[in-house]
Amino acid sequence: MNNSRWVLITGASTGIGKELALCFARNGHSVVLVARSENKLCDLSEMIAKRHHVQVVVIPKDLTAIHAPKEIFAELLNQNIQLDVLINNAGAGRSGLFKDNDQSHNNQMIDLNIRSLTALTHLAVHHMRRHGGGKILNVASTGSYQPGPYIAVYYATKAYVLSFTQALRKELKGSGITVSALCPGSTATEFSKRAGKADIKGAMSPHKVAETAYKGINKNKSVIIPGLLNKIFILASKLLPGTISASIVARIQRKLTESF
Ligand SMILES: NC(=O)c1ccc[n+]([C@@H]2O[C@H](COP(=O)([O-])OP(=O)(O)OC[C@H]3O[C@@H](n4cnc5c(N)ncnc54)[C@H](OP(=O)(O)O)[C@@H]3O)[C@@H](O)[C@H]2O)c1
Repeated sequence: MNNSRWVLITGASTGIGKELALCFARNGHSVVLVARSENKLCDLSEMIAKRHHVQVVVIPKDLTAIHAPKEIFAELLNQNIQLDVLINNAGAGRSGLFKDNDQSHNNQMIDLNIRSLTALTHLAVHHMRRHGGGKILNVASTGSYQPGPYIAVYYATKAYVLSFTQALRKELKGSGITVSALCPGSTATEFSKRAGKADIKGAMSPHKVAETAYKGINKNKSVIIPGLLNKIFILASKLLPGTISASIVARIQRKLTESF
């Protein structure tokens, strides 16, 4: 399987991850699809194989399981796949007051959004060093830039993703491995429903987010922000004191949680 350009995408069964898989396949990359829903991954694999002349490998995995990242890289070795791109896209949120949220949900969110992303990145850096370089994209959020009352743990995990990605990018400069962060704003996927909140009107399409991400990775952008409104929102978050942005986010998130 060495002649292909391979990209591994976590959370590829729906939403932004699925669109990223289609976008990379359209552009001639072979894809490794990771998520829990094996049926959805197999349907996507069939669709990609029919439409594009690329190879597809499905690895069904719950990334909150401690050994999942190692098992994924063992499978890549087993199938002699050399990754050009790793996309850490799988992520989940949970709305509501922190005091009312189940701690097991918080742990799952931290395991998925932080621990598995960090472990996969560590494995990918070593893998890519052995194979002469590569690209890593970590999916953060516009929520990485300010505190998120009523969705506090999720926003904090995304602050981690952005900070970690920017630090690693600096460490790896000149190594042949590039690291970028994708910061989408509200996107029309299953995310809100799963997080227990209403959709924001005018959410971006996951297709548009994936296309912007693809271009951004190829331009080796440090941070990729899809859409003008999201760019303005992030700029405002950088300029405003944390207490003010927290109040704005609190108003929005409380409304979305209450109207779910
Ligand atoms: N949608 C938004 O408004 C928005 C905004 C900013 C950032 N983001 C970020 O964008 C990324 C993609 O989210 P999305 O909007 O596309 O949401 P989504 O439609 O809910 O997709 C989430 C993906 O993650 C996978 N996943 C969830 N838990 C998993 C687990 N334990 N193990 C393995 N895979 C798991 C899901 O597949 P299975 O259920 O099959 O496992 C699914 O493929 C996330 O990191 C999210 O935080 C989303």
